[in-house]
Amino acid sequence: MDFSYYNPVNITFGQNKLPFINKLIGDRRTLLVTDSIFNELGFVDEIKNYTNNIVFILDDINTQPNFFNLKQQYEKAWKYDFEVIVALGGGSVIDTAKVLSVYDLNKDFDFVENLTKGNIAKSGYNIIPVIAIPTTAGTGSEVTPWATVWDTRNIKKYSLHLKDLWCEAAILDPNLTLSMPVGLTIQTALDALSHALESIWNKNANDVTTAHGIRASKAVLKFLPLAVKDLFNIEYREKLLLASFHAGMAFSNTQTAIAHAISYFITGHKGTPHGIACSFTLPDIIDSVVGQDIRIDNALTSIFGEPSSKKLREFLNMLGVSFYLKDYGIKKEELFNLKESLITNQRAKNSLVDNSKLFKVFEKQF
Ligand SMILES: [Fe+2]
Repeated sequence: MDFSYYNPVNITFGQNKLPFINKLIGDRRTLLVTDSIFNELGFVDEIKNYTNNIVFILDDINTQPNFFNLKQQYEKAWKYDFEVIVALGGGSVIDTAKVLSVYDLNKDFDFVENLTKGNIAKSGYNIIPVIAIPTTAGTGSEVTPWATVWDTRNIKKYSLHLKDLWCEAAILDPNLTLSMPVGLTIQTALDALSHALESIWNKNANDVTTAHGIRASKAVLKFLPLAVKDLFNIEYREKLLLASFHAGMAFSNTQTAIAHAISYFITGHKGTPHGIACSFTLPDIIDSVVGQDIRIDNALTSIFGEPSSKKLREFLNMLGVSFYLKDYGIKKEELFNLKESLITNQRAKNSLVDNSKLFKVFEKQF
């Protein structure tokens, strides 16, 4: 067996770990990127209690970071002189912070579009370190070296992926995830489940990533149904945050695959939230992939007790999440465009799933 695995993020995990932010920031001038809701919830004041080094708070972050608002965010943030960025929030906040952390040496704020389209080599850049503090349990962005950016006008998703875009550190404190309502709890946990399963039917999988993927999947299946009935149970929140972390450790080295590739078309065209768009197709994907690779079958058996989508269908049913395309506004005649969108999708290329088999399964839904 041979493999390589790399993840350089300094992790602090556990309840009441927010005070560690002081040690992680040190004496560096800090830009705090967050969502205004965390100001209202008192988290921003709490951080201010631990450090005096915040020079600016950027708290109007959009749910889908896109070229147009990122340019405005750059112009606002880079008026200040800062040496580290703290990102307090969900995936959109962390991804925005990661994009803001990369700056053009010529301070040209139009460069974000070029940057995300992969033309960065033309304009030299520097990267400011990012400390991520997730307030959801699912994105995994705190342990991956990329950030999702949307071109909302042309309905296209880009991934800013640089070898040095890893966060410097992350604080994973389940107390911060208690504020999630039930819908967001489900969406983010299903995103983590999708990251975990996508790391398994993946050309880049190895023993380490598969072990993380299995562990994350089992934890979501066990603790999400408990958490939705008891949202303030810190033990369940901790298990879901740990699941999200393990999923992150898995797909940080494999990237995602076909479910995410499909999700970008669905989110772009139908507005379905990411965690649902990337997970409701998972049962059909499982049906399309079982029996083709003993490693995948074994991993699915470890998770579900058998290499089958049956348990996952029951699980999604229990959560009230449909696995039918039509329930997300997809018509049969749109399947062609959906399939076409996968041809140029880099994440689809990671997939070990036979697309023609999968689309035959999709067609049977209508
Ligand atoms: Fe995702």
